[in-house]
Amino acid sequence: MRKLFWLAGALCVSLQVTFAQSQRYPIIPYPQELQAKPGVFAITPATKLVLPEDPSPFVTETEQLQLLLTQALGKPLPTVAKASKGTIVMRQNPALAGEEDYTLDVSTGQILMTAKTPTGFFRAIQTLRQLMPPSIEDARAADLKLISIPAMQLKDHPVYGWRGMHLDVSRHFFSVNYLKKFIDLLALYKMNKLHLHLTDDQGWRIEIKKYPLLTSQGAWREFNNQDSVCMQKAVDNPDMAIDTAHIIHKDGKTLYGGFYTQEQMKDIIRYAAARHVEIIPEIDMPGHMMAAIRAYPFLACSGEIGWGKSFSTPICPCNESTFAFAEDIFTEIAALFPSKYIHLGADEVEKTSWAASPLCAEVMKANNLKTVEELQSYFVKRMEKFFNSKGKTLIGWDEILEGGISPTAVLMYWRSWVPDAPVKAAQHGNQVIMTPGNPLYFDGTPDRNAIYNVYHFQPIPKGLTAGEAKHIMGAQANIWTEYIPSEKRADYMFMPRMTALAEVLWTNRNHYDDYLQRLNEQYKRLDLLGVHYRLPDLDGFTEDNVFVDKGVLDVKKPLTDMTIRYTTNGTIPDEHAKALPAHYTITSPETIKLAAFSPAGNRGDIYTLRYRKEAYRKATVVKDARPGLKLDYYNGVFKSAAKIKEQSDSSMRVNNAIIPEGMGKGGGAFGARIQGYINVPVTGIYSFYLTVDDGGILYIDDQEVVNNDGWHAPFQKSGQVALEKGWHPVKLAFVEGGGGYTLKLEYSVNGSKLQPVPDSWFGAGR
Ligand code: ACM
Repeated sequence: MRKLFWLAGALCVSLQVTFAQSQRYPIIPYPQELQAKPGVFAITPATKLVLPEDPSPFVTETEQLQLLLTQALGKPLPTVAKASKGTIVMRQNPALAGEEDYTLDVSTGQILMTAKTPTGFFRAIQTLRQLMPPSIEDARAADLKLISIPAMQLKDHPVYGWRGMHLDVSRHFFSVNYLKKFIDLLALYKMNKLHLHLTDDQGWRIEIKKYPLLTSQGAWREFNNQDSVCMQKAVDNPDMAIDTAHIIHKDGKTLYGGFYTQEQMKDIIRYAAARHVEIIPEIDMPGHMMAAIRAYPFLACSGEIGWGKSFSTPICPCNESTFAFAEDIFTEIAALFPSKYIHLGADEVEKTSWAASPLCAEVMKANNLKTVEELQSYFVKRMEKFFNSKGKTLIGWDEILEGGISPTAVLMYWRSWVPDAPVKAAQHGNQVIMTPGNPLYFDGTPDRNAIYNVYHFQPIPKGLTAGEAKHIMGAQANIWTEYIPSEKRADYMFMPRMTALAEVLWTNRNHYDDYLQRLNEQYKRLDLLGVHYRLPDLDGFTEDNVFVDKGVLDVKKPLTDMTIRYTTNGTIPDEHAKALPAHYTITSPETIKLAAFSPAGNRGDIYTLRYRKEAYRKATVVKDARPGLKLDYYNGVFKSAAKIKEQSDSSMRVNNAIIPEGMGKGGGAFGARIQGYINVPVTGIYSFYLTVDDGGILYIDDQEVVNNDGWHAPFQKSGQVALEKGWHPVKLAFVEGGGGYTLKLEYSVNGSKLQPVPDSWFGAGR
């Protein structure tokens, strides 16, 4: 007994230390080695700065530090030649191993920052910045008398060299200013690559001087289907409205789009370089080229413009004029972007026009190519030779494996349903960048699991030896913007989950609980930087609620300075809506809409809570139940769980609401109905949480409890039901549209912690 008490006490103390430490050193990504020290160093307007012995290579970084301090103190620090008490010292240390390595020693008397390169100093400055109070980010502050930096000793370096973010500026266009804001956020969290998806079917976004129609025509479109979906969603969420800054009126038409001139792009590249972020351009071909083909129809095999079965008609790799065009484009791109990498795309190519082309038949024969996949490989390899002639390395999406890959191309892995692609590529000796759809496609709407999933992502795929794993350069999250029409929506989609990726790629050690504490310390800074991040999730309710006599809504707020506002008349709560009291009592059926607001007025997700009055549903007698559930499997493509066909193709038993390993292998589509009985241990209000990709519906007692139907990325929905202790019929309908799935069923009872439904609760007839 005594020992137990002692253990509990010890645990408490260590948690408290961790919590205090995460508040005192709220750094993301967390440094490799940080030794906490007592006391603080006080930066005041009288503090002096000592520059490196040869300051010339570090002018930009010194400027960044001075800018930060000017923003806080109203003026830059005076510089002096000699280190003494009360100085911040920047010292070059050529003995450090890596380009990005740095150390930071903070004592009450001095701050000593060492690095080998300008990049190292820049990373050190970002750490120092995160140790300063968030108020330094407020451009209007500029009158702090003192900034306290907690004492410590820190040594830091990244685990992965490729810590990337991608942004699709084709599906929706983003302003130069937004790209700069995006780069600022990458830099703050030590991300170092920005992959710009500059061209696609929906718009060409970079000026190419030799082919002016690419932008004068290809950068503009009339609203398309995806825009219409956004407009519909904008009724409930203003962040889904098309940004009017990118709408023009020309020749009696309303056109939407935009592009970057080469001068603007040079400015963006310079801005990024000063923040040690490298921009990698992607000009996606041979597929995804409709905007270009519309402007220059000679690019397609027989001049056709439009869509095949799945994707748009590609450019023709069987015409020398296509290569001349592509080489002209990449000549300008290679000259414009200093990065050693150029991304050729090469994903999702609809090859039917090649298969039908007599010209392609000739080219295939002449080059001994057996399949259209080999023809694609022929295109990619020719382009790679051209890139190499410009001193550049080719990156392609993982389809470049099909039909044969050259050993020098870099593979960017995205298709979660082809798990062996990065393994094969690394074993073949190719460099690999990991961007698997799940969890790194940040166009999937974030839910309460999004941060956890990113934080627990393992960059090294299973099946590689330690030697082969060295080919994994790092990882990147991708933001495809078909349904991201505004800058606010883009912020919401990638922040704060990018910070989880930053920690995976820089620190690569699991400090999850501590990370969540440090993340809480970031929100104020993000507010002041004008970032419309996704607010942390609220807890203590489900969307669909039942009560027997009365219900109490008791929302748990993860951040104390959030305000929760609500309406009961169906309108969306805005900053004028009533604040929700701590305990809100429900006595009659109603629908409540609520949302959290940050102090800066940034609104979190809107939750719609329906309250129904119900009696406890009676339990059923189940005689002779056998453990587990019956799973009926349905081969085919079903757009929703409600539309699975009648006749199953096979059946099996499963011990929980799961899809057995191997089902839908190779990324195939299917449906499943999993049914039997659930034996709940106490009478109570049960909340069920269903996370699915693609879609699913949970029924209990033949009534729908959670509807999470339709095809979508992994997303959690919940519902409630009042159940009497004992057996109740349960059914889960699930659909997978192809490309990898998720199915997770969790519960809580009477407001308890969320947990998986145990196997022992399920039973089915014999
Ligand atoms: C991709 O998502 N098509 C690379």
